[in-house]
Amino acid sequence: MVASGNGAPALPAGIRILARGGSALDAVEACAKFIEADPTDTSVGRGGRPNVLGVVELDASIMDGTTHRTGAVAALAGYLHPISVARAVMERTPHVFLVGNGAARFAREIGANRAQNLTASTRKLWVERLGKAGETPASVRRRAKLLGVVRKTVKEERGTVNFLALDRRGDVASAVSTSGWAYKYPGRVGDSPIIGAGNFCDSRYGAAACTGYGELAIRGVTAKTAVDRLASGMPVDVTAQAAIADANALEDAAFNIVVLSADGAHAAATNREGRRYVWMTAAMKEPATALRALVPRERRGSPSSRASARAGSLR
Ligand code: GLY
Repeated sequence: MVASGNGAPALPAGIRILARGGSALDAVEACAKFIEADPTDTSVGRGGRPNVLGVVELDASIMDGTTHRTGAVAALAGYLHPISVARAVMERTPHVFLVGNGAARFAREIGANRAQNLTASTRKLWVERLGKAGETPASVRRRAKLLGVVRKTVKEERGTVNFLALDRRGDVASAVSTSGWAYKYPGRVGDSPIIGAGNFCDSRYGAAACTGYGELAIRGVTAKTAVDRLASGMPVDVTAQAAIADANALEDAAFNIVVLSADGAHAAATNREGRRYVWMTAAMKEPATALRALVPRERRGSPSSRASARAGSLR
């Protein structure tokens, strides 16, 4: 299994499932649930940072790389495990993606666990951020127009958790879960629940998932492009770095990817210093951590950026 750095505490649970012959799909779901239930991770599930109105809106998706069945939810409020609701969308509905009130209605219908996802500490963070924008919970809730406030409340806080797994049968699965961009406009959906953008897998080639500025993964169809690169024979490390180079060509914003190939090779890349990812196999007692390959953004028009554009960069 491979995960974003914040997924480390969950990997032993996923590996236990794989070691007893369980499916990659069960492993990635179990891992995502672990982090969703952890109130200390302020980017996922309970304890995730809320939108500008103080509502924790969760996005999640899950994919089976053998059948290409997928399920996703976006802007889901009031439930503990968006990843399990996403899996139920995949397995119990004729659809692949439910959002907002429809996703919450479906979660209620299947008896999903309800939760108050705004914790005392994330409420405090939200109130502090509103304060810096000259607002209070009461004032922001009275506003007819939110855009001006959101421009002040959003910064580079867009954590997410990624899990990629390869099981004994050679099936690959992937899961991504997030509370999205902190203090976002209500209804903002990032890349995490969008298959092909923040999450994609194909058991023939491998899997990829993103964290960071989700809008870039949507614009770049990043996870699918990465798996296409694996399919073309590109090594995992070059694939991960190419994804960051693509994102860097669009905007200067934190962006990260993890990649797992169908033969178990893995890599991760980022455009920010010091970012880590984790992995674990059934032969390991605990997860291993490594720095992601750094692909810094070159200044537009610099000699090196012109040279890499001429060389086709890492495409
Ligand atoms: N990558 C998470 C988000 O942008 O919502």
